Amino acid sequence: MKDSYLRLLENNKIWAAEKIKENPKYFQHLAELQTPEFLWIGCSDSRVPANEITGTDPGEIFVHRNVANLVVHTDLNMLSVLQFSVEVLKVKHVIVCGHYGCGGVKYAMDTQDHGLVNKWLRNIKEIHVKYDEQLSKLTDVRARADRLVELNVIEGVRSLAKTSIVQKAWKTRSLQIHGWVYGLENGLIKDLNVMVNGIADLEPIFRLDV
Ligand code: CO
Repeated sequence: MKDSYLRLLENNKIWAAEKIKENPKYFQHLAELQTPEFLWIGCSDSRVPANEITGTDPGEIFVHRNVANLVVHTDLNMLSVLQFSVEVLKVKHVIVCGHYGCGGVKYAMDTQDHGLVNKWLRNIKEIHVKYDEQLSKLTDVRARADRLVELNVIEGVRSLAKTSIVQKAWKTRSLQIHGWVYGLENGLIKDLNVMVNGIADLEPIFRLDV
């Protein structure tokens, strides 16, 4: 039996041929220039592919994904992606997109030792504690998990706004940060309307002299 990974390489050949058939210069154009308008920070979950669910093509979205779409202010990987996309690519929108039914968020809600990922997900436990009052009112475990997914996105948006990278950009131009949640069950994205537009949306202690 053929190894399953070979299917991916075969599909790739078909895909590339189709693109060239549609537009002979498709790859030439893409290779020459990358001008995405959006930075996407999403979950690594295989069911939430940024381009597919937003109907966008290669070249349109700069993507960073990690377990549970966290924005951790000491994460050099995320910060490098953020800086490059904001300062060099000059994206106009940053989108933090979580998803309902996120395994990472569920893991964060229990007290089991899941190994190394526990250290990463501790960030979500802190959010759980911060919003304990509203979360404890939700007696249904699923409803609580769904709300925690949303709160994690909201905190991600706020966390981005607290970075010097975003605040520096705000000095000279518009940069919008959005919080979205994708529904695995219906394929739809919900806009949480937590858009942060400027430094005035932050508590004074987070407003940096940049
Ligand atoms: Co997830």
